Amino acid sequence: MARPSWDEAMRSSAMATLDSKQWVKGAQGKAFGKAFAEHCGALSATPCQNGSSALWAALRIANIGPGDEVIVPSFTFISSTTCALLVGATPVFVDIEPDYYCLDLNEVKAAITPKTKAVIGVHLFGQPYDQGLVTLCKNHNLVLIEDAAQAHGAEQKFSDGTIRKAGAMGDIGCFSFFPSKNMAVGGEGGMLTTTHPDYQDKIVGITNHGRSPDLEAIQLGSNLRMSEVSASIGLVQLSNLDDWVELRRQNAAFFTQELADHPTLQAPTVRPHSTHAWHQYCIRTEHPDALVAHLDELGIDARRYYTTPCHQQSIYKNHAQFTQRLENTHTASNSLVAIPVMHELLDDEKQRIVAALRSYC
Ligand SMILES: Cc1ncc(COP(=O)(O)O)c(C=O)c1O
Repeated sequence: MARPSWDEAMRSSAMATLDSKQWVKGAQGKAFGKAFAEHCGALSATPCQNGSSALWAALRIANIGPGDEVIVPSFTFISSTTCALLVGATPVFVDIEPDYYCLDLNEVKAAITPKTKAVIGVHLFGQPYDQGLVTLCKNHNLVLIEDAAQAHGAEQKFSDGTIRKAGAMGDIGCFSFFPSKNMAVGGEGGMLTTTHPDYQDKIVGITNHGRSPDLEAIQLGSNLRMSEVSASIGLVQLSNLDDWVELRRQNAAFFTQELADHPTLQAPTVRPHSTHAWHQYCIRTEHPDALVAHLDELGIDARRYYTTPCHQQSIYKNHAQFTQRLENTHTASNSLVAIPVMHELLDDEKQRIVAALRSYC
């Protein structure tokens, strides 16, 4: 399902950083943050340990805590929701759109209460969420935290004519560089971005024990810093990101074309005016286990996403929504199978995948 790139440029960058013996708090992390912010059009970007700690930090920076409600999707990776628990807030689970699998705007509107302080919008599988979420959060004075862990390189044309990339479609953006993601850093890693001048210094501070530049602890933080070696690898990976996402798009377009007349399998759809980053290519089927078994028999990796909605996992057994059925979430949980779409997929592998899909009925 994933094949992270590793080449001579990345190796020599990592080795040069090791040789320099500047292993933490150095020029690589600063350069990686600067280049990442430029790439996604954010005001600033700060490397950190991973996507989950980025989400925790984003909520802390937005001053979310006990008594606050945070609207989240349930059809997502678990840490998009448990970050709210980690700061003592209450996640409020909202259903997704049936076709694009991101938060449903009307459901978000209906879930807003006087206690709502933030929304965590996930660009799921690399598909940008509805741009209306930005306006909705502004109008209701809610902090919009962008879970862009799966969306490096995704874009959306906004109705004001601007084209915004993932990382610049909310107040604080959270990325993951887990090895399966669209780009990686040779280990665990994450990035916090912001479009908000008030958050800029707080983000840098929270990743470094909440210290001000003169080393006084002025906010609650921790050591969330990324190592210099990881940052130096990330810098090289970032320089390839546009090409890699383009390859993912070509792979996705090929699969979609080949699935057009399939009797039982449905290709994913892309939101108008947006560019999908294709972290995952999820096929819809009434019999997901049978499709996975069929592909497995033919030696093709495939995986169901996400079989148990977050709000129905044991960690939420005492949550008011534990037994609630969110209709579109339920349907997605029982129908999606991801096939390999990574940028390093070879032509003959694509042909094998398509032949396997065609032989499935
Ligand atoms: C949507 C989403 N959010 C958050 C995360 C957490 O990122 P990390 O694994 O780097 O902590 C992931 C990782 O898979 C993810 O897919």
